[in-house]
Amino acid sequence: MSLVSRLARPEILALKAYSHAAWEPSLQRMHANELPYRVAGDTSQAGLNRYPEPQPPPLVQGMAAFYGVDPAQLLVGRGSDEAIDLLLRVFCRAGQDNILVCPPTYSMYAVAAGIQGAGVVNVPLRPDSFELDVAAVLARVDASIKLVFVCSPNNPTGNAVPRSELLRLAQGLADRALLVVDEAYVEFTADASVATEVGLHPNLVVMRTLSKSHGLAGARCGALIASPELIALARKVIPPYAITEMTVEVVAPLLQAAGIAAMRARVATLLAERARLSAALARLPCVLRQWPSEGNFILADFSDPDAALQRVRAAGLIIRDMRQALLPQALRISVGTPEQNDILLQALK
Ligand SMILES: Cc1ncc(COP(=O)(O)O)c(C=O)c1O
Repeated sequence: MSLVSRLARPEILALKAYSHAAWEPSLQRMHANELPYRVAGDTSQAGLNRYPEPQPPPLVQGMAAFYGVDPAQLLVGRGSDEAIDLLLRVFCRAGQDNILVCPPTYSMYAVAAGIQGAGVVNVPLRPDSFELDVAAVLARVDASIKLVFVCSPNNPTGNAVPRSELLRLAQGLADRALLVVDEAYVEFTADASVATEVGLHPNLVVMRTLSKSHGLAGARCGALIASPELIALARKVIPPYAITEMTVEVVAPLLQAAGIAAMRARVATLLAERARLSAALARLPCVLRQWPSEGNFILADFSDPDAALQRVRAAGLIIRDMRQALLPQALRISVGTPEQNDILLQALK
């Protein structure tokens, strides 16, 4: 029995997936209880009166090509948040199974676990450096833990886990649990994604998104990248028409070469602006320290975080309060345009 079928919920393995209306574009559609008329103002190619094609090939193929994986290894969902939710629902039985997370990290892993009724085991990052404690994670994983979530670069601390560490962890967890690497910010780093390693490590799962570097958070497009066997189980759980036709028609062309080149140019601009913002923050007396960031944000300790939040808000901006265990003074700033960053710096002066 494969690792994926050993770890998956038996109900999901046994589930007969919903059989959606057949997709046969050469035939006139009289089988899906759609209206045969377009509404006024519908400028879509396919017609919004029609259900979209499930797992739309232009998106699946475009994302798979960009990530360097096989289309059969990729499921497109409504952001990586949907990928997190699907993993919980495929693998965790309420009241029995757990996930492992390494705080401070992205809070949705624990929220999705809470929704599913799964437990959350915390193995904190090393204080101060926020490095992943691979030995502590491996020591803590028992048979109840199905999914180990690692975010790299990590939100909110900004540091990336070296690729060699991620692969060492995948190897250490082999035959025991799935390692889920959340690479939402990976395009902002020099580090290579581990997505291309999925075929070599049956327990490795990678999540990517178009929400960050691609500037498409409003389109809600993320990818779950894993073995075809795992993707087939997730496909049973995701609603058949999750991705809207408008999303497909807007996003698929942006995954072509010109769109990718434009994305890379915007990332370069943003990284230069991050360096400028970071240098200016370092000169402000109210900023006690910053952590080196490999994302499009900066985490910093403030002498008086409440006052900083208030001053920034009075200037018409909002930054994120990240105060929590291990981060008692921290606020997170998403790098903005040069004009926005100047307003922020002025407000904090
Ligand atoms: C680490 C991390 N993963 C996933 C997400 C969710 O992204 P998406 O828009 O793809 O659902 C975020 C969003 O902030 C994030 O910070």
